[in-house]
Amino acid sequence: MRKLYAIPLGLAATGAATFGYASVVERNWFHLRRFDVPVLPPGRPPVKILHISDAHLTPGRKRLIRWVRSLEELEPDLVVNTGDTLSHRDAIGPFLDALGPLLDRPGVFVYGSNDLYSPVFKNPARYLWRTSKSDYKKRRREPDLPYRELGSSLQAAGWLDLNNRIGRLKVGELDIEFGGIDDSHINRDRYDKIAGPVDPQADVHLGVMHSPEPRNMDRFAADGYDLLLAGHTHGGQVCVPFFGALATNCGIDRPRVKGLHKHRGSWLHVSAGLGTSPTAPVRFCCPPEASLLTLVPRQ
Ligand SMILES: [Fe+2]
Repeated sequence: MRKLYAIPLGLAATGAATFGYASVVERNWFHLRRFDVPVLPPGRPPVKILHISDAHLTPGRKRLIRWVRSLEELEPDLVVNTGDTLSHRDAIGPFLDALGPLLDRPGVFVYGSNDLYSPVFKNPARYLWRTSKSDYKKRRREPDLPYRELGSSLQAAGWLDLNNRIGRLKVGELDIEFGGIDDSHINRDRYDKIAGPVDPQADVHLGVMHSPEPRNMDRFAADGYDLLLAGHTHGGQVCVPFFGALATNCGIDRPRVKGLHKHRGSWLHVSAGLGTSPTAPVRFCCPPEASLLTLVPRQ
């Protein structure tokens, strides 16, 4: 009789321990990833970009807020936020607190679907057979999160809104041209509004989007953007040891679900993000992250 219960009890205990690790330990085990990206004209000094994404912030995520605030120590020259910042209508104040002095630095942002729509419970395993794109078509009509207020707050600090817009910033001595699009996951991307070759007078050209959708990445690359920045995938969020992500939740391939890669003639950096939706509060073999991308001269 004892043996009869031993196996299910053992499995239940292992499952509970794994869930505890994924939800309490790894979900708060923040990592900083560093990459050098050779996109600058020869002879230019390095420029540091802090890439943050997918905070999915709720006011109670104090450890996430403290960790983001500590990133000011990196003294980045530019901050790029690729969306899914909110998961609660009262999260704007805590997010601005998290940025703290980073807000005084040059910055740019785009929205993700979760900045517009509050989280609803879904079966987390559904990502294995389809993306969450259809959830928005079926259930959602009007945005119910204060994404416009988020945008206004960031713009008030001098950050550029790149949702279907071109932008330009002088960062140190570097003239940076930006092209950005709103979230393709909810069909708000309008690449036609920014389409066209990059300005050769600018020193470097950055393409910014939430979801790394290949049809948009192709257009950024064809227009001459040097580096594309995206989030959305959460790096797979729940990964299998020695295998990696099971799904990407968009059109990008699994090997490029996070990290620095090439896309045609451009570099591509996909952030695995800082947070998780409150309805799926676990990470496994895919810790939350921010990235410090150091732009260096081309070889
Ligand atoms: Fe996200």
